Amino acid sequence: MSPSRRVHAYTLESPGESTRLDQQSKVDEYSITPDLEGLSLGDRVLDAGCGSGETILLMQKSSPHSRIEGWDSSQVRIDQARWKTAPSFQSNVSFRKADLLTFNPSQEDGFDTIICRFVLQHMIVEEQQTAVSNLVSVLKPEGSLRLVDGDGLFSQIYPIERNLESQLNRLRECAALDFFAGRKLKTHLVTQGLSEITLKIQPLLFTGERIFIERDLMKSRLDQALPTLVQIFGSVDGAQSFIQRFTQTLSDPNCVVFYNKFIATGKKRFQE
Ligand SMILES: C[S@@+](CC[C@H](N)C(=O)[O-])C[C@H]1O[C@@H](n2cnc3c(N)ncnc32)[C@H](O)[C@@H]1O
Repeated sequence: MSPSRRVHAYTLESPGESTRLDQQSKVDEYSITPDLEGLSLGDRVLDAGCGSGETILLMQKSSPHSRIEGWDSSQVRIDQARWKTAPSFQSNVSFRKADLLTFNPSQEDGFDTIICRFVLQHMIVEEQQTAVSNLVSVLKPEGSLRLVDGDGLFSQIYPIERNLESQLNRLRECAALDFFAGRKLKTHLVTQGLSEITLKIQPLLFTGERIFIERDLMKSRLDQALPTLVQIFGSVDGAQSFIQRFTQTLSDPNCVVFYNKFIATGKKRFQE
């Protein structure tokens, strides 16, 4: 399938997605805390693709005087983030519907710090480059951009039966999802001319009893994505058979599933 005909797999307007993101952030392996380490927030902060606002809650705790904006292309997600975070938020936090691929950088004031977490993996590589270029355009000179993304989702599993392997191949071929977004983050920062680039990697390993936690999270991810999976597998039965086979594989405590989380940071050079 050509890149332009790939099926966008993220269920942007699904109300259940907010609950899933919240549940996921409470699982140790998916903790947000390591993703903020060493990031000094400064006065104006942007969470690009903020989802349900969990990262903003943490940033606000560690830097109560920063003015923090959350942008997301999904109005449903923005409404949920506003509603969920209203009790603990001050007036220095705001949310806005904005698409990282199409917003107009020339109309924005600069940010001291931008974090973009698990967003680029929902784009093909050309879109990732556009999004990162747009974000760098709204970064102040000397400001920092941190990108966080997974690598190896749906790919690093053992043992795996042949039927599931071919279903996973179809998913990788047809979904407009980048299962290997993490390894590309540093290149995006280099291409945009950022300096002082650092790269960290955190393995997320699910084995033994922990695999059941990932199985349940995966089931809810796949259930949210059912309409997209129907397009990819050609029918409801085809999509259900994939979900059933995949979650059954993750029901074996001897199965090993792992992903890598990449955390890349760069600084915008001061322009004389
Ligand atoms: C997996 S969620 C991650 C949310 C949050 N950053 C977190 O770490 O929990 C991906 C988010 O990216 C948003 N998103 C996807 N494509 C986007 C785009 N082109 N512009 C802005 N947001 C986008 C989705 O609506 C969704 O809320």
